[in-house]
Amino acid sequence: MAEPSYLTAVRESYDTVAVDYVERIPPPDAMDPLSRAMLAGFAEIVRTAGSGPVADLGCGPGRVTAYLGGLGVSAFGVDLSPKMVALARQAYPDLRFAVGSMTALETGDDELGGILAWYSTHHTPPRWLPTVFAEFHRALAPGGHLLWGDFVGDERVTPTQGYGRPVSYESYLLPLDRVTGLLEEAGLVVAAKLEQEPTGRSKRPHACLLARKPV
Ligand SMILES: C[S@@+](CC[C@H](N)C(=O)[O-])C[C@H]1O[C@@H](n2cnc3c(N)ncnc32)[C@H](O)[C@@H]1O
Repeated sequence: MAEPSYLTAVRESYDTVAVDYVERIPPPDAMDPLSRAMLAGFAEIVRTAGSGPVADLGCGPGRVTAYLGGLGVSAFGVDLSPKMVALARQAYPDLRFAVGSMTALETGDDELGGILAWYSTHHTPPRWLPTVFAEFHRALAPGGHLLWGDFVGDERVTPTQGYGRPVSYESYLLPLDRVTGLLEEAGLVVAAKLEQEPTGRSKRPHACLLARKPV
């Protein structure tokens, strides 16, 4: 199948901003406490279940992948942007990172104990989210968990600048209930939700959602 055209803009933009992203975005240790609590809870759940590795999809420079590793999770990263993957490999040579898209994962069926999609789906046009969430469902092992975190709202944003550089991607902010509905339509069971007012440097409300593939 031909690649969806929006992916070109996302890939080129993140290749352009990769170094600036690392300089401007605080590391996971500096994240708000509730988001870190969701990451810790997810880590405990997938570690205890022991049903396969965790894929950090849209891993960027790999800092959250490594953070999960520090919580005892066997995690690897996948990102569309070769530049992001190069930075991740350079910073964390002991971890595995691959260039790829969450629209068509290289992973086999039922292979993953967990998926982390951390601020990585908001560039996906809503009409493509069913494809992405179907991939999540396909790749997760029965009983495997997804932790999704991202900005929420009801807005399509077309920025010209990101992280101080020209970008051509768009962002699509959806209400949390809409994301919940799309995950349920993909066959996942939503187990927990957290919606937060803007925190830290972010001016937008954001949310986390934990879902599992039924056994
Ligand atoms: C805002 S960054 C977040 C990076 C990382 N998750 C973090 O929290 O530091 C979004 C990342 O998602 C990646 N991305 C967006 N769409 C993707 C897709 N379809 N497949 C893989 N990666 C994607 C981008 O290349 C970018 O590196």
